[in-house]
Amino acid sequence: MTGSARPPTTATNDSTDPAGSVTMASTGFPELDALLPRLAAVPALEAAALEAEQVAVLGRKSGLLTAALKSLSSLPVDERKRFGAAVNQLKGQFEAAFAARAEALEAERRRREAAGLDLTMPGRRRWVGAEHPVTRVVDEIVGIFRELGFAVATGPEVETEWYNFLALNFPADHPAMDMHDTLYLDTPPAEGEPGGRLLLRTHTSPVQIRTLLAGPPPVRVVIPGMVYRNDAIDASHLPAFSQIEGLAVDEGISFVDLKATLTHFARRFFSPATRSRFRPSFFPFTEPSAEMDVECQLCHGRGCPACKGTGWMEILGCGMVHPAVLENCKLDSERYTGWAFGMGPHRIALLRYGVPDIRLLLGGDMRFLEQVGRPGGTDTGGVDA
Ligand code: DAH
Repeated sequence: MTGSARPPTTATNDSTDPAGSVTMASTGFPELDALLPRLAAVPALEAAALEAEQVAVLGRKSGLLTAALKSLSSLPVDERKRFGAAVNQLKGQFEAAFAARAEALEAERRRREAAGLDLTMPGRRRWVGAEHPVTRVVDEIVGIFRELGFAVATGPEVETEWYNFLALNFPADHPAMDMHDTLYLDTPPAEGEPGGRLLLRTHTSPVQIRTLLAGPPPVRVVIPGMVYRNDAIDASHLPAFSQIEGLAVDEGISFVDLKATLTHFARRFFSPATRSRFRPSFFPFTEPSAEMDVECQLCHGRGCPACKGTGWMEILGCGMVHPAVLENCKLDSERYTGWAFGMGPHRIALLRYGVPDIRLLLGGDMRFLEQVGRPGGTDTGGVDA
């Protein structure tokens, strides 16, 4: 076989498919050669197409080869002979190819039947999947702060005591540094690396320090990431959970910037009419410090079991960056001021979707994720029909 007239797509069938072994050499007649690619395509035809092709080529009324034979009488005698022979040879090749393909299809059908495959069964719907509610919350929160000109920063999950606590103005004997609160690593810090023991960061606040040490203000960043605590799992606690930190440091920043930005955030994230309030609190790295509450998203302030009857839900801690933190980062605290916040997207996902147990966020239960997840990628509602 020369193979020269075969389309490349069927070339791999040459040795295996009986119908592929037909001679594809030129017939010497262009109108017959025009049929050679169709002959080569026969081994790939499915049942319906095979039937149609048989009619189109060999059909008694208007088959192409039938028509060619009919045109014989109009040819001069010597050409008539050669042309007739060529048509007959091609016809034989088509017949062989059709027969071989029909046999192959039938064998395939029998094989499927034996395997219990019923191709007439309706297809199964494919569930495309959905974005996890916590991923969705993180993306939205980060997106809102990006609109306000904040950049995204990240930092390591394995930290030193200095970054995680001391640079943030925790006193060296602070109870948060105890073994029963913080997960320490046995590995000693790298040679010449100051900062004390290695630990899994307990919050994203150490990235405040890393950001301020990396370059001078103005600084406006949001810092999403995982944090770790030595906590037992229950309906409202996980030993590993997400946080988003925020930090703005510049000349002339005041508590007004903090309140205005965080109030705007709450309205964008929850709903435009969402009320919020700030309660005094304490964190070593902020002064003054506050806790921010938003109106309960389930009862809208009336009081319900989810908000323990208060009408409010706590969403974050915040405050003005403590001057000692700025000085630890080699910044002049007379010149620069700033504000910061930290919130937990796992907790916020619970509040937003009215989920009663934080463990549902880890279970991978499709019935749960289908209700609160955002369908991935398509607009088919997560279903590929
Ligand atoms: N790091 C605190 C925590 O994990 C949260 C926090 C509170 C972060 C106040 C802040 C802040 O930046 O200003 O509980």
